[in-house]
Amino acid sequence: EQHVRVGLLGCGTVGEAFAELLVERSPAIESVTGISLELARIAVRDPGRPRSSKLDPELFTGNTDDVVKAEDIDIVVELIGGTKPVGELVMAALKAGKPVVTANKELVGSAGPELFAAAEQAGVDFFFEAAAVAAVPILRPLRESLLAEDVTRVAGIVNGTTNYILTRMMADGLGFGEVLAKAQELGLAEPDATADIEGADAASKAAILASLAFNQSVVAHNVTREGITGLEPEDFELAAQFGYVIKLLAVAERFPDGPDGIGSVGAQVFPALVERDHPLATVRDSFNAVFVTTSAAGELMFYGHGAGPRPSASSILGDVVSAADHLRRGTHRRVPVGPPAVMRPTQELV
Ligand code: HSE
Repeated sequence: EQHVRVGLLGCGTVGEAFAELLVERSPAIESVTGISLELARIAVRDPGRPRSSKLDPELFTGNTDDVVKAEDIDIVVELIGGTKPVGELVMAALKAGKPVVTANKELVGSAGPELFAAAEQAGVDFFFEAAAVAAVPILRPLRESLLAEDVTRVAGIVNGTTNYILTRMMADGLGFGEVLAKAQELGLAEPDATADIEGADAASKAAILASLAFNQSVVAHNVTREGITGLEPEDFELAAQFGYVIKLLAVAERFPDGPDGIGSVGAQVFPALVERDHPLATVRDSFNAVFVTTSAAGELMFYGHGAGPRPSASSILGDVVSAADHLRRGTHRRVPVGPPAVMRPTQELV
């Protein structure tokens, strides 16, 4: 029996869904694992604002130190998002010896290597399953089940907004602007969808996937990217004529040609022609999927919701339970990512 006190930074849509899911699932988690999770504190910008009736108003504080530095907080969950000043908060929590769980793709995609090193130095877990393809467990398989594998390629549909737009353009023969406007009206695309449609969101996820697939640091600015804004209805017609669909792919590849035999890495985000009967071609609307190629296991595909408050909360809670289990055992799991990858340009892939 282990009692673990969780401190949360941020209570937006994902933070609130996580807080509610923790409260909802903690009896079941306790019966399965013997770990009793308590949501002990939530730091927010405005603690007076009305919140979910499922959350005790006493939990809220306006001071991040009450989570990051407090003696009575065992695990910190960062769901504020963005890189500044959040990077410093995460760093401070790790340096204070607290395991950190985050869903922050921008932060892990840009400052991952420093944070992995800080976690290792402190001897604590740093988990971020929800930072790449939210609900779909892909990072833990790469970090654990496939750690001993020779992963050669990871190709994913890692952005739901663009996959929805491309699905509609393909099916309805409509123009990009028209479909984007409709998606925004339906709440399926952000009012400012720049990071999605220009591939920046996918590039952060590509960097995280490449780092864990190949155990070498790749950050978002190493990823070459092209978004979907230039696509025309004719591109889809032409693709269909030759038996292809168009998908925005994040592709990371390892080439066996590097110095010391480790190999160089290519990482890019681009609208790709995917054969109609390839498993990735069947991933429609806002679903995400990651297709992994390894030398022994062969081909694997991971599929599901890559965004959304409750799917993200599921993944974050899984990380919290793992971190709590490691605390109980007095252990942690190193992020198996080494020095910066030697990057090389990737070829256009069909
Ligand atoms: N805007 C992202 C998407 C959400 O559409 O997939 C998760 O990064």
